[in-house]
Amino acid sequence: MRSRARTAVAAAGMTLALLASGCGADDGDGGAGSNKVEVFTWWADGGEKAGLDGLVAQFKTDCSQYEFVNGAVAGGAGSNAKQVLASRLQQNDPPDTFQAHAGAELSDYIKAGQIEDLSAQYKEWGLDSAFPKGLVDSLTVDGKIYSVPANIHRANVLWGNKTVLAKAGITAPATTLPEFFAQLDTLKAKGVATPLALGKDWTQQMLFEAVLISKLGPDKFSGLWTGQTDWAGAEITDAINDYKKLLSYSNKDRDTLDWTGAEELVMAGKAAYQLMGDWEAADLDAKGFKDYNYSAFPGNGDAYQWLADSFVLPKNAKNPDGTKCWLKTLGSAAGQKAFNTKKGSIPARTDADAAAYPAYQQAAIADWAKGTPVPSCPHGSACSQGWQDAVASAQGKFSSDGDVAALQSALVAAAKQYAGK
Ligand code: GAL
Repeated sequence: MRSRARTAVAAAGMTLALLASGCGADDGDGGAGSNKVEVFTWWADGGEKAGLDGLVAQFKTDCSQYEFVNGAVAGGAGSNAKQVLASRLQQNDPPDTFQAHAGAELSDYIKAGQIEDLSAQYKEWGLDSAFPKGLVDSLTVDGKIYSVPANIHRANVLWGNKTVLAKAGITAPATTLPEFFAQLDTLKAKGVATPLALGKDWTQQMLFEAVLISKLGPDKFSGLWTGQTDWAGAEITDAINDYKKLLSYSNKDRDTLDWTGAEELVMAGKAAYQLMGDWEAADLDAKGFKDYNYSAFPGNGDAYQWLADSFVLPKNAKNPDGTKCWLKTLGSAAGQKAFNTKKGSIPARTDADAAAYPAYQQAAIADWAKGTPVPSCPHGSACSQGWQDAVASAQGKFSSDGDVAALQSALVAAAKQYAGK
């Protein structure tokens, strides 16, 4: 994956080689008698919806013979959408396309035989060379490519309310965990009751992973998902203890909030910080909140915790030609720009012109280029859906009982059950 980051570096600043947009007349009239293309996501509000809208505008230009149908089911990280999708797939009622994270999560759908091989489309649309090799590998099983990536997001970013931080005399981001704890103590002493905003299960999983990256470093962290790093080790116990301490600086109603609920605490100045993926950049912008700063989570160094939203052609989709037009658009340079400039993510394509992006993404493109890629479990690049669910439920339990040994055994058991599967 390092080479992937490097490829992206080489690409930064290069001029866009725009793909010929528009799907040809031979793209058909909508398959089984319909021109509708149902696109299933969890991007229903704020910056996420803004990103989707950007892509839809490009789709309307490139694929004017088709009609976009919004199948979004609200809920951060697909917390509701994935259940709805699973039952639709089971009932053989797939949407025309759905979002699936690159990596282990996508492999679940491939193994279940639920999505089609897109290798021929990759050749036809020139996508083989458009994306970094490491990313294409995460979309490939047995030599076949099953999905088109829309972006690369970064998960391990700490967002701060500038005014709240300045009032507490904090002018620079913490670069280590001990420094971060000292800042949180200062904020508490200055009357910020809950310095760290936090939401429910999957957002807690993200915070815990950020702590693990600080404690283990990128290589050992990545090894947690391949069986090379032992979940039962003393470093993990240490990380859980630090994470437990972090929870004590967070809002007590965390288990009831989605990521946007926690984000509101930061916007309202009730909290100083939130660890969240960089969809937060787009969301804060969409909500008109400008008083924020961002940095990598303390102690994460140049680790770039990546995830990629990708879209698929489900088996038995009603309008496969319409789906292909959607996929061609989102894989194109114009589609990636229309989407990512609004979504907070960076383009998966390596030929993007960084200057065309907002300030946050320009910084992210540079960081991705020189950073060390590490995967994310709650966003599917590191682990399967079953593993995600097992960890999320263990984290939810830990949020109320704080039992360090019980969390560690649950993590060990989950790894035993799911690693390498
Ligand atoms: C992630 C997804 C992002 C963003 C986030 C919050 O899983 O990849 O695009 O939508 O959830 O909902």
